[in-house]
Amino acid sequence: MTAYKEKYDNYLADFETVLDGFCGRLDCKPEKLADSLKYSLKSGGKRLRPVLMFAVGELLGVERTSLTNYALALELIHTYSLIHDDLPEMDNDDYRRGRLTNHKVFGVGNAVLAGDGLLNTAYSLLFGECFNGNDRVSAAKFICDCAGINGMIAGQAADLEHENDTTVDENLLNFIYENKTAKLLIAAVVVPSILCGGKYYSELKTFGSVLGNLFQLTDDILDIEGSFEQLGKSTGKDSAEGKYTGVRLYGLDGSKVRADVLAVKCTGILEKFEGDTSFLKDLVSFVRQRIC
Ligand code: IPE
Ligand code: IPE
Ligand code: MG
Ligand code: MG
Ligand code: MG
Repeated sequence: MTAYKEKYDNYLADFETVLDGFCGRLDCKPEKLADSLKYSLKSGGKRLRPVLMFAVGELLGVERTSLTNYALALELIHTYSLIHDDLPEMDNDDYRRGRLTNHKVFGVGNAVLAGDGLLNTAYSLLFGECFNGNDRVSAAKFICDCAGINGMIAGQAADLEHENDTTVDENLLNFIYENKTAKLLIAAVVVPSILCGGKYYSELKTFGSVLGNLFQLTDDILDIEGSFEQLGKSTGKDSAEGKYTGVRLYGLDGSKVRADVLAVKCTGILEKFEGDTSFLKDLVSFVRQRIC
């Protein structure tokens, strides 16, 4: 096993323990609501955002235990964004993380509520952190802003509004990528900085942004070249739904060139850091080369 894989699995295992504890305590009625929340939370997924948060925390010397509720809140928000993203009135997808989508199993109405419930619970976790000092309030607010109307929601709204546009404008594409995807990755890497007095704040913000843009570009590439077995979601959907993608603007080969450029830029930002950034550098390579 490579050192990268070993570290990833270690962060992942820590996060799964936190999530298992949360799901074990999750007790709400009707039972269908609880079941639908657990169904989407416990169906795998790369857990990239919590892993990133733990890795940056380690680099900056922030205790992992002080990050767990932020990592959990962020994964809840990410999972809610996926449940809503898959709804018939959004991307209309039947599969996610290798299983039927939440609305296919529990119905559209319940899937809307499951997403709302995850967002609401994330806020409750974040408010719980606010008793412990100003930095913790700032970190909580940062996640809310990244998820909100000037963040992920804005990106999703623009993604929807520009479905079936006949041309793709690079500035608008950047807006969509930055908001729908990069903002939650920015949150993952900036929260540890906020919790230690803003160390490498602007570098981490840029790192999260470039990594997020790379991540969405590779997601768009994988929609064409990836496999259902590896991705756990249907492929070929972007062109079928007239999505505003990098591949439409740059072409498939052009997108790969651009992805290489973004990966180099992202790794370059890490050169400015003291300490061992090898895991984060390997993670950038993973995002560039991923098949899942
Ligand atoms: C999928 O995110 C949605 C995008 C931002 C492209 P991930 O690929 O991180 O999804 P999971 O959590 O691993 O399922
Ligand atoms: C979704 O982008 C980003 C979210 C905020 C969920 P996509 O619509 O491309 O993600 P997938 O391909 O469905 O995972
Ligand atoms: Mg979408
Ligand atoms: Mg989608
Ligand atoms: Mg996609």
